[in-house]
Amino acid sequence: MILKDLNQINKEAHIHTFHPSGLDWPERFDDEELKFLSRVAFNEEGHERAAIAYLTKELAQLAEIERHVSAVMTIVLADLQGEEDRLSEGFELHHALTCFAAEELQHANLFYRYVRLLSQDDFKYANNLFQARLTPYQGTDSPYIKLAALCCSAYIGESVITVFERKTRALDPEMKYFFTRLLYWHGLDEARHVQTDHFVFEHIVPNLTAAEQRRMRQILDITEALNGELATRFEAYTKEKFGFDYTENNYAHHTQLELTGKFRSLVFGERISKVDDAMDDEGRALLQRFSQAETIHV
Ligand SMILES: [Fe+2]
Ligand SMILES: [Fe+2]
Repeated sequence: MILKDLNQINKEAHIHTFHPSGLDWPERFDDEELKFLSRVAFNEEGHERAAIAYLTKELAQLAEIERHVSAVMTIVLADLQGEEDRLSEGFELHHALTCFAAEELQHANLFYRYVRLLSQDDFKYANNLFQARLTPYQGTDSPYIKLAALCCSAYIGESVITVFERKTRALDPEMKYFFTRLLYWHGLDEARHVQTDHFVFEHIVPNLTAAEQRRMRQILDITEALNGELATRFEAYTKEKFGFDYTENNYAHHTQLELTGKFRSLVFGERISKVDDAMDDEGRALLQRFSQAETIHV
């Protein structure tokens, strides 16, 4: 039954998806598109250059995180070949994690292409801590510990970007702007990743022993700390590259930090929770103000 549920998540993954080659990439973005980005980030037009810097930083950083998710999933998939338990029998778990990994690698491709077009610059960052972020997953821990730690970490970013997707849809219901469509395309896959994370929270995390759960939290904490360091580095690099501070009066930037902190405290409690289940009034008010919706994944 559980394996059937897992298989259900990706049953139509080949239909509800977009390949980066299939998108309507323009030569460059016009003024209307850039004004829209300014409205998304600053609630008003006139901050186009800062909106470009902000989205370039965030989506390039997200691409780095997605590439890491893909790589760790690949390690987990290899490790699972040595497992004999019921969950790793058959194709279901292997299929679900392979879809997840492949989609995240294409998202890294998608977002890097987008930020280079948006910034009109060959934006890339070598000090991306990739090896350091991979190391905690290269040990002899059970693949279920690694998978649980990875999904917990990925879930926070996936929840935050879903809120942004909702915000752009609220501002642009007809999806006139490329950015709205970009988040929609990405979100088609993300909706399945979130369901997979929820599956892991419900069926894998509770079956880990107390010691395994402690180890999972340890790997999660290391991943979160390194991702935090990555964000700091990306911010400094982007400020230097663009030559100004794009975070000043940047409503989306400040809300994003607030959402990330809030989601971490809600999800990583005594037990790992789904973000909507754990949501409180303060969080709902914040979501409503920013994205005109009180829920995220439901
Ligand atoms: Fe993604
Ligand atoms: Fe994802």
